[in-house]
Amino acid sequence: MYLYLGIFYIFSNFIETRKIVGFMVRELKRVFVTGQIAKEALELLKGNAEVEVHPKETSPDKGELIKQVKRVHGLVTLLTDRIDAEIINQAVNLEVVSNVAVGYDNIDVEAATRKGIFVTNTPGVLDDATADLTLALILAVARRIPEADSFVRAGLWKGWHPNLLLGTDLKNKTLGIVGLGRIGTAVAQRAKCFKMNIIYYQPTRDLEKEKSLGVKYVSLEELLSLSDFVSLHVPLTKETRGMIGRKEINKMKKTAYLINTSRGPVIDEKALCEALAEGRIKGAALDVFDVEPISADNPLLKFKNVVLTPHIGSATLETRKGMAMLAAENTVSALKGEVPPCLVNPQALEHRKKG
Ligand code: NAP
Ligand code: GLV
Repeated sequence: MYLYLGIFYIFSNFIETRKIVGFMVRELKRVFVTGQIAKEALELLKGNAEVEVHPKETSPDKGELIKQVKRVHGLVTLLTDRIDAEIINQAVNLEVVSNVAVGYDNIDVEAATRKGIFVTNTPGVLDDATADLTLALILAVARRIPEADSFVRAGLWKGWHPNLLLGTDLKNKTLGIVGLGRIGTAVAQRAKCFKMNIIYYQPTRDLEKEKSLGVKYVSLEELLSLSDFVSLHVPLTKETRGMIGRKEINKMKKTAYLINTSRGPVIDEKALCEALAEGRIKGAALDVFDVEPISADNPLLKFKNVVLTPHIGSATLETRKGMAMLAAENTVSALKGEVPPCLVNPQALEHRKKG
């Protein structure tokens, strides 16, 4: 008798526990992460949601993204994921698209806003790494480092020569920064240490930074004609797409270099190749491209005076971890019903209220 009662007690408790756990499991929100991000960030997400991570090296295709947005409350994306209106409009419970990047031109923010979906990014944590890479590119192209490296490896080094692989000094040269935002500012701080003169252009003049950094505001036209190095640090928008085309490149000095660590389509790549082929500028250093990865027949590959890196502006262990953590924090905060720390579309709040 006691044995039966005991079994009944354990069984009923088991059912009760299952019910509670089942209830909790049902209540957990779902998150899809489109690529392998830092494990610490995944742990944070897993502590707050049911998480699925895209298992492949390549981005999920459109079909997979549509399947996921019908299912999940949070989408953690990489800049290689194109989250367009067609995908967003099929979302059912989606509350947040959390990009692991500061740029968010891969997301149709207007479509998300209309549906009251938050879009977040990761500003600040990658400024130093991206500015470091920008200076590395400036130095690499000015001092011909990739060329020198290939020269040594090819066994062509026969001895010291006064004219071997001569480059350009940074000292006393003018650096023109297009977009003195977070990264542009970090670039200016570094360039100061190399004793460069700094001018900048952006729509809004920043008198405080002019004073603290000792930089001078000029028009884009002046910047292009005065700079020895032109470095781009703007987001990709309707206004900045193609902002450096044939006309703009023609305003640059014949001895100037063009550096791009922003987004590829900010430069008209065809116009740049023509200018390089005709010797209208001295060289270029590019981390970002019109189409990424570039194709094997991209004409940029044939220029010795062009340094190419595969979109690695923020690619350090520390920075990528910081970006992943910030993206996870943005996601968790949004899923808890809070306003996430790096919300790029506060207008979504209005649409939420209406909806
Ligand atoms: P940010 O702080 O928002 O700065 C952007 C700057 O661009 C602002 O100073 C802004 O000036 C200026 N700007 C906007 N529209 C402009 C226009 N039409 N003409 C000239 N200047 C304009 O952004 P950030 O954090 O520095 O990041 C900048 C971009 O770098 C990102 O959007 C991303 O695309 C790129 N990025 C690339 C990598 C990489 O791996 N290569 C890494 C990180 C970021 P106003 O204030 O006057 O609008
Ligand atoms: C990288 O390109 C970023 O936007 O974070």
